[in-house]
Amino acid sequence: MRKRLIILIGVLALAAAACGGGDDGGDDGGGNAPPAVGVSAAEGRSLYDATCVACHAEGGAGIEGLGKPLANSEFIQGVSDSELATLIKVGRDTSDPANTSGVAMPAKGGNPALSEADIDSIVAYLRTLN
Ligand code: HEC
Repeated sequence: MRKRLIILIGVLALAAAACGGGDDGGDDGGGNAPPAVGVSAAEGRSLYDATCVACHAEGGAGIEGLGKPLANSEFIQGVSDSELATLIKVGRDTSDPANTSGVAMPAKGGNPALSEADIDSIVAYLRTLN
């Protein structure tokens, strides 16, 4: 009789522990999180030099027929940081009415390994050119 009671208490304790641990899932799907720690224009510059420079040239000078200038860019000056980050993430296909060059801007500049923080750093770097 005593033994059964101890087992019952043990089962209840386990059940309580399982329930208690279940509600700390958090919300990691939000799109408006503040910039992650480690975001910097210097980091953005090295990411830019690795991924974007092939089409947009050193310092965002642009390359005719490959990528538009990103220095002193009216487009960049006219959008918010999050709009700029979205453009970099999504790219701008030739079918997009906003496309002016007839050449596609690939999503993430063709580098799917870029994280949200990486893109925020690139945005910070692009701001230094404008
Ligand atoms: C394969 C070439 C290519 C690569 C790599 C590339 N881009 Fe582009 N990008 C383009 C082209 C082409 C356009 C212009 C599209 C158009 O006509 O609107 C463009 C447009 C842009 C624009 C909008 C400029 C404007 O005036 O409308 C931004 C901002 C931009 N790219 C940022 C980046 C960043 C940041 C990277 C690196 C992560 C990158 N691009 C990598 C080709 C490229």
